[in-house]
Amino acid sequence: MSGKEDCNRIPGVSRKAARLPLIRQSRPPLMEENVLNKYLTISVDDLKVGYYVVGIDKNWLETPFLSHRFLIRSDGEIERMKSHGIRMVMVDPNRSEGDLSRLQIGEEAPTNITVPSEDVRKIMEDVPLSPARVTELMTQLHEYLVRRYKALFEDIREKGGGSSFSIDTGPFVRAIEDLEKLGRHFPDALLFLAHLQSTDDDLYVHSINVLFLSLYLANTQKLSAEESLLWGICGLFHDIGMFKIPLEILHKKEPLTSGERAIIQEHPLVGERLIREHFQLPEEVARVAGQHHFRRDAGGYPPGGDFAQTGAVTRAIMTIDVFDALITDRPYREGVSPSRALKVIVDAAKDSLDPRWATQLFLGMGVYPIGTVVELSGGEIGIVTKYHSSSERQEGVASRLVQKFSVLILKNRSGFPLTKPFMKNLSWSPKEPPPVTKTHNHSDFMIDWERLQGLAPYWMG
Ligand SMILES: [Fe+2]
Repeated sequence: MSGKEDCNRIPGVSRKAARLPLIRQSRPPLMEENVLNKYLTISVDDLKVGYYVVGIDKNWLETPFLSHRFLIRSDGEIERMKSHGIRMVMVDPNRSEGDLSRLQIGEEAPTNITVPSEDVRKIMEDVPLSPARVTELMTQLHEYLVRRYKALFEDIREKGGGSSFSIDTGPFVRAIEDLEKLGRHFPDALLFLAHLQSTDDDLYVHSINVLFLSLYLANTQKLSAEESLLWGICGLFHDIGMFKIPLEILHKKEPLTSGERAIIQEHPLVGERLIREHFQLPEEVARVAGQHHFRRDAGGYPPGGDFAQTGAVTRAIMTIDVFDALITDRPYREGVSPSRALKVIVDAAKDSLDPRWATQLFLGMGVYPIGTVVELSGGEIGIVTKYHSSSERQEGVASRLVQKFSVLILKNRSGFPLTKPFMKNLSWSPKEPPPVTKTHNHSDFMIDWERLQGLAPYWMG
C-alpha cells in the first residue's frame, strides 16, 4: 500500500492535519566491540597470512566482502582489504596461526569496529542477548535499511528504463537474515520497532515496517528460518515499483486526481517486472509485488487481478500492508491506534482481505497490540509493551480468548507524567468490562523512540 492511496477503501479512517512527526536521531552502524574480549584489534598493516579475521572497521554491509570471517590465505587478500579503505581489523587469536601475543595493537582507537552478520549469529549462539540489546541492534538495522532502501530507489530511478542492469540485493538479504535471527530471540521488538515513523521518508519507512511486521507474523506461524527470510524479502520489496512514480505525485499533500491515481496503481506491475528482470530473488518476491493490491471482491488493482491466484505470503503481506498504512501518520491524515487498525482489518476481511490472515494478525498481536497507547478505566495512560499469550481460552467460551498484556504506565489518573513509570499487568476476557477505555496512536502523546529508549529499563528487562 502506498502512502497516497492507502485508505481509500478502508472505512472509518479520519483525515486530519499533519501532526508532529516522530523525531529520531541517527545511530552508529551495527556494532559490537571486542566481543567477549576474546578478539584482538590490530592495524591492517600488521595483518599476516594465517590470521583469522572476525571484524573490520567499515560497516560490514557497505563492503564487497561476502563474509567478514575468514582466514587470510595470501598477501593479495590483505592488499584487497587495504584497497577498500580498511585500516583496522579484529582478529581471533584462537583461530589464527602463529603467536599473536606480541602483536602491537594499533594506536588508532577502534571506535567503529563492526561485526558482520556471521558474528551476530555467533554471539547469539554463545550468549543470550538481553531484550534491550536485541532492540538496539534491531533499531540500527531499521535505520540502516531505510537509508539503504532510499538509496536503492534513487539508484533505480537513475537507471530509468535501462534494460541491462542488475541490482545487488545481497546487503538487504543479509540484514534481513540478521533481523530474523534477532526476532527469534525477542519478537516483541519487531512489533515495537514497526512503529518507527518518519514523515520525510514515509514511503521507505513503510517498506521497512512491513518487513518487520512480516518477520513478526512469520514468527507467530513458527515458520522455518528460510521461509521467514522469504517473507521478509517479500515484505521489503512489495512496493519497489513505486520508484517510477514522479516525486511530485509521491509528495503531493492534496487529494490525487484520477490520472495520478492511475499512475500510482501501476506500481504493482512495475515492481513485479523490475524484480523479475533485475533482482536475483525468488519468483515469489516478484509475485507478491505484483499481487499485493488484489482484493477478494475484485476491488483492488491492477484491474482483473484474480485473488484466487494469490498465495499465502501475498495474502499475509497485503494484510500487513494495510495494517501499517492505517497506523502510520501521513502529512494529510493521522494514523489510527493499532487496536483500531486491527478492527478495521477484521471488518475488511468480510469482503476484501483474507479472513485467515486478518485472524492470524489479530491472534499474533492481541486486542491491544504492542505500541498502542491506552487509557485505562482508572484514568492512567500508558503504552502496551507486552502481549503475553493468545492461547489461553476462557473456560466455557472456547471461541473467545483471554487477553493478557502489560502496560507501562506513563501518566497517573490525574494526567500528570510519572517520574518513575511502572509496569501494570492486565488481563481481560470478553465477558468482562474492558480495562481500556480509549486507544491512541502512540504519536498522539509524542511518545517517540528516544523517549521509549529512556524507559527501556522498565520494560525490556
Ligand atoms: Fe503497494
